[in-house]
Amino acid sequence: MGRSPFWMQKQLTWTVIAHSGLTVTEICIQYRQIKAGARRPRKEERVLDQPISATQPALVPTYTSPPLMAKRPPRCPPMLEITSSDQLLPYLDAVAKRPYNQGLHACWDLKRGERVLLRVDNWHDPMVVEACKKILEKYGCKYEIVMAEKGPIPDWVGADEVEYYLRRTKELADWMDQWDVMSKEGKYDKLLWGYGGPVLADADMKIQRMPFITPEILASPAHTMPYELLHAIDMWTWERVRASKRVRIKDPEGTDVEYTNHAGYYDSRRENFNPDLVAQTWAGNEQFGRTYLPGHVLGKPWLYLPGKEDGNGVIAGTTNHIAPVDWTQLVIENSRIVDIREGGEFGAKLRKLKAETDHLQYPGFPGKGLMYWWEASIGTNPHIHRPRKGFPSGWINCLYERVRSGVIHIGFGTIISSMDERRAAKQGLKVGHWHLHLYFPTVTLEREGDNETLIEDGRLLALDDPKIRKMAAKHGDPDLWLSESWIPAVPGLNVRGDYWRHYARDPLSWVKAELNICRNWHHLFMSMVGADPKFCHDNIGFWMTGGGVTDLSATNTHAHGHHDHGHGGGCCG
Ligand SMILES: [Fe+2]
Repeated sequence: MGRSPFWMQKQLTWTVIAHSGLTVTEICIQYRQIKAGARRPRKEERVLDQPISATQPALVPTYTSPPLMAKRPPRCPPMLEITSSDQLLPYLDAVAKRPYNQGLHACWDLKRGERVLLRVDNWHDPMVVEACKKILEKYGCKYEIVMAEKGPIPDWVGADEVEYYLRRTKELADWMDQWDVMSKEGKYDKLLWGYGGPVLADADMKIQRMPFITPEILASPAHTMPYELLHAIDMWTWERVRASKRVRIKDPEGTDVEYTNHAGYYDSRRENFNPDLVAQTWAGNEQFGRTYLPGHVLGKPWLYLPGKEDGNGVIAGTTNHIAPVDWTQLVIENSRIVDIREGGEFGAKLRKLKAETDHLQYPGFPGKGLMYWWEASIGTNPHIHRPRKGFPSGWINCLYERVRSGVIHIGFGTIISSMDERRAAKQGLKVGHWHLHLYFPTVTLEREGDNETLIEDGRLLALDDPKIRKMAAKHGDPDLWLSESWIPAVPGLNVRGDYWRHYARDPLSWVKAELNICRNWHHLFMSMVGADPKFCHDNIGFWMTGGGVTDLSATNTHAHGHHDHGHGGGCCG
């Protein structure tokens, strides 16, 4: 018999463990396999062939091959290089012309002589603020810009969401109080402030959103998309949800949950929410709470219906509003979270918070405890994308991407900025809500004698509706307006690899690496992840012109000038 290979010799065992990236258990399993006669796997095989049972929790979904590679391949919009605030003006010009509403679409509806307060902070890119100033001047507004100081821009990990929303809930409540005072003072006609959550009734002063953190976020067809299209997509979605009797949400990351969309949630015509529940939950802001929020359609009513809450099943995911998190599973019984499984540090913090609050009665809640599931909200804008530069830090986090069409964000805890939340805070209870995002959900609605699919594998089916396509055709190519700019690349789901080993056990590492390549080597990234080359070439200049509002092709290059998108060069194939 020959001598054992060097790596099997005892004296080197600890060196192997230290450098292999494998756990001791995994090494032992491989050692036993090799002693039993198997050849030693090559290094790349070692990664792919790690015994799943040694590391993967049994709850995590497994696939023999990525189920969505053909159906929902990844894509990312071209990385435009913006060097001057003037390049951003055409996008803001479109936003300035959109009709005002309280929703999450940026709709500033600027008027000559209007008294506008733009509220930003040091986490916003100065070039974006400068562009906003120019557009307010262009529209003849009497404007003020308040620059708040939020301290150094933090880098995030997903587990930060737990403290973030305990703090942020208070910040939002402070904003609501400030808006109340400002509304009574009558100094401004309109505020452009914040990019999530509720705003006040707008009888005296309008409040609209400021979602533009960086040039990358602003320079997108998401913000030039004609408002009639966004409105039609919202209405298509909302009309179906509110008419449904039962809703089931599945997602390949492990969600399978359903609830009854009780008549008791709605008024007698099922057009708006039940006015009694609205009066309880949204006292003082009933106009806002009685219906969906444009750009954020309520896949589950943002009200609790005591005695009837019957959300049941499991919700699982790898992203919250702040950043990717280790795979997390929530077990739901009658809309209450009865167990939080896995989740690394995020899961551990949530379990602690749950234990601290499980015995407490919150105002308006169906039973004891803080951890109730109330939200399954649906994004509707196909061109929202995950920002690459600076992710995840400061405002450049996963909050923005939740409004891409077909993405669902699950929310649990107190209902954001509702009166019940404010009542709970006044009683000294901990308030806040937390999230998991679903990027490839399939939502089926049980309707009167009929069922309908609302979202299929993350594709909001409003985008395929013939009437909406016809409307889009008035504004250019309907395929471009109604195709998502961004579909995340998830190993094991729509990219080669194993879902657990190459993604779900540490999604933040993958996403950071992926976005780094996407940002700096976009021409390589798209083919690396098997993306549809149509969304890299941009041959007709859809992304670089914001769907036709501007032409940046003369100056747009990939970062570091690797590749010119402007003339249809074959970057991906
Ligand atoms: Fe939400």
